[in-house]
Amino acid sequence: MRAYLERRGLSRATIARFELGYAGGGRSGVSDALAAAGAARDDLVEAGLTIVPDDGGAPYDRFRERLTFAIRDARGRLVGFGGRALADGAKAKYLNSPEGPLFQKRELLYGAHGLDRRAGRGRLHVVEGYMDVIALAQHGLAAVAPLGTAMSEAQLERLWRLDDAPLVCLDGDEAGLRAAGRLAERALAVLSPGRSLAFALLPPGEDPDSLVRAGGAEAFARATTAPVALVEMLWRHVAAGLVDGGPEARAQLRRRLRALVGGIRDPDLKREYGREFRRRLGGDDRAEGWARPPGRAAGRPAPGRVRGVEPADTYELLVPLVLTPRLLARFDERIAQLRFETPEFEQFKNFLLDCALGDDELSSEELQRRAAGGGLATTLASLRRWPAWRAEMQLSEAEREDAYLRKLEAHERHRAKRVERARSHPSDAGGDELERRFRALNGVLNRSRSEP
Ligand code: UTP
Ligand code: MN
Repeated sequence: MRAYLERRGLSRATIARFELGYAGGGRSGVSDALAAAGAARDDLVEAGLTIVPDDGGAPYDRFRERLTFAIRDARGRLVGFGGRALADGAKAKYLNSPEGPLFQKRELLYGAHGLDRRAGRGRLHVVEGYMDVIALAQHGLAAVAPLGTAMSEAQLERLWRLDDAPLVCLDGDEAGLRAAGRLAERALAVLSPGRSLAFALLPPGEDPDSLVRAGGAEAFARATTAPVALVEMLWRHVAAGLVDGGPEARAQLRRRLRALVGGIRDPDLKREYGREFRRRLGGDDRAEGWARPPGRAAGRPAPGRVRGVEPADTYELLVPLVLTPRLLARFDERIAQLRFETPEFEQFKNFLLDCALGDDELSSEELQRRAAGGGLATTLASLRRWPAWRAEMQLSEAEREDAYLRKLEAHERHRAKRVERARSHPSDAGGDELERRFRALNGVLNRSRSEP
């Protein structure tokens, strides 16, 4: 036992401080010893230390041939144990006390009680396992860990009571990244201004325990010098797997981001995250490793492809969204499906969808101000020159919403028919007449661009 702990580099002081123990290999050695020391047999069963088999067989110990960890709650009460197998080939590497009124894994943070609360104890680290907490503590670093499960909201709340911005340390492999992403997502719900998380992705295959054992606190510090911010972690998490950057991937990314921002309960943070993701979507997205889709020549649909929105419907489908931005959230998936043949309008549609991100109360005025500020003044001006703009403005919001739904449905029916027709007569897919009208539309756009 001592040899094992020494091999793992733990000092006597650390062993005492963390109340490490040893459960022997006999069938009921622990239970018998505790009973001899005065514990009631029923209490041992209730605490989960003694297991009574259903088939009436002799009671036996839960923890056998294991290193044991005392688990205390935030108030310092001993509420359960963890046990690491010492024998090679043991069925489970780690075991815990069974869930009960006192021992609730999702409420507890291992190491929280013993935490050194003196001023200047430094940043709080969130690690995966018991041994990580203990090894960091021995090197003067504060750490807590969940108990073998993903971090719950309750645990996050506890965590933030200990530190405003704990550093989550995870293995930098695939599984670690996924865990970090999921944790980042969960944190969003309970986030509030002034609370955050950062993520340190450790070299693959390493954990905090192995790092400090090999190179001390300095090695650990080196591995955690460039933490990833929560917002960046979220971005990587939702963008993972969407590498080609084409329109479909982009639409999917936007949808995921919208769901993510929708989950933020704090209204101020919701707005801020929405703004940040809009910036990442819209601004210089290449800088974020997000390739811009290759542009096609203006107004010229690829041959043999079913055309998107007809020129006559372009204004009908965009103007109501400018006047009532709320429609964007209501119909976002269907709007994302619209394909405007003129790049300016396609870009405007994407701008509109980005606008809806995380901002449920965006006004038409604010939306138009953003469009003008975002290099879309010309397209906006051409929408405003649409002869029916005024009539559209006269509608109440409810009327506009009803009308918009009907327009969308009509467009979708029409498009489905054309897809059907293109399937049976592939050569009809591109018509000269449409081509001519697109060119005319583009001409109007180009003229309006040169106007003041
Ligand atoms: P790891 O398997 O990464 O172990 O589990 P570790 O912490 O590095 O342990 P050592 O270094 O091999 O001794 C991380 C944590 O996940 C929980 C435990 O809390 C463990 O500390 N766990 C792991 C379980 O609860 N059950 C398991 O079977 C495995
Ligand atoms: Mn380990």
